[in-house]
Amino acid sequence: MKRIAVMTSGGDSPGMNAAIRSVVRTGIANDIEVFGIEQGYKGIIQDKMRLLESKDVSNTIYRGGTFLRSARCLEFKTKEGREKGVQNLKKHDIEALVVIGGDGSLTGAKVLEDEYGYKVIGIPGSIDNDIYGTNISIGVDTALNNIIHAIDTINDTASSHDRTFMVEVMGRNCGYLALTAAIAGGAEAALIPEIPFDLESILEKIRKRYEEGKTRSIILIAEGVGSAHDFGKTLQMMGGFDTRIMVLGHLQRGGSPTVFDRMLATRMGAAAVEGLMEGKTGVMTALVNKNIEFIPFEEVLGNTRQLDERLMKIAEDLSH
Ligand code: ADP
Ligand code: F6P
Repeated sequence: MKRIAVMTSGGDSPGMNAAIRSVVRTGIANDIEVFGIEQGYKGIIQDKMRLLESKDVSNTIYRGGTFLRSARCLEFKTKEGREKGVQNLKKHDIEALVVIGGDGSLTGAKVLEDEYGYKVIGIPGSIDNDIYGTNISIGVDTALNNIIHAIDTINDTASSHDRTFMVEVMGRNCGYLALTAAIAGGAEAALIPEIPFDLESILEKIRKRYEEGKTRSIILIAEGVGSAHDFGKTLQMMGGFDTRIMVLGHLQRGGSPTVFDRMLATRMGAAAVEGLMEGKTGVMTALVNKNIEFIPFEEVLGNTRQLDERLMKIAEDLSH
């Protein structure tokens, strides 16, 4: 293998730069040229790709976002768009592709492999932690630390005023961020898409807390279950609590990646290149226990990641 390419696609996540850097430098160490494609599938179609040298990835490991930039590209979902893209990859003699992104981006990679027999390895990058097959995806740890920093800060002012705060976090269809942040941030409840919830019993729990002399309540809401503003209004009306709303939004997705994310991204980037050299394709790098393994796209995309039931129980038991 002489030349491969790397790209980032879909929602960015902290650690993507570390993964690109690892792919580039592992490639160079093995006499493989690595092209960087700008803006994911859009860059493939628009022929925005260039050779990356070692210096191009200097000073990137500590930066959030992705210096190759990311995009969502509807055209790649069409046969004509993909045809154009594959022509461009062939024009540059690019033999294989490393795709860093979420479920959607990995689906695009699978289509490339299925339709054209193109060699592709995926790396899971998404703060939601909704990708099946890996313990955790690149960016999740940093996003959680961002959320916890916000909750700790809110705690100070919330407890000074005996207030209830509704904190909305990301996670399109997945409650992982809300549940984990609720446990690590000491929140009273997490409203997540995976578990039906009963507002009356949450109100009761908060009432009891105030009666016991506790000075604040924090409720996490995964964006997938609805708006913190709406829930906040309801709580204020039904329970009469002094309620405030925080929507953390894209603050969760930026910032310097944690050591965990830098290491995960670096290990996965190196594994992706080594995997391609061993002839692997149609697989995603995954953290399984302590090792980086390769999971077939069919398995990754054909299954839904479930939340850990023990964590749900811990969250409930500790929130009273
Ligand atoms: P994420 O990778 O974060 O889940 P998206 O779901 O937005 O983000 O997907 C990113 C991009 O992957 C899409 O904009 C599109 O270009 C590509 N993609 C997603 N699904 C498909 C598909 N079924 N076929 C081809 N490309 C796809
Ligand atoms: O999938 C990652 C994610 O951050 C989700 O949590 C969120 O719903 C979505 O992307 C937001 O995407 P956008 O980049 O379009 O704002």
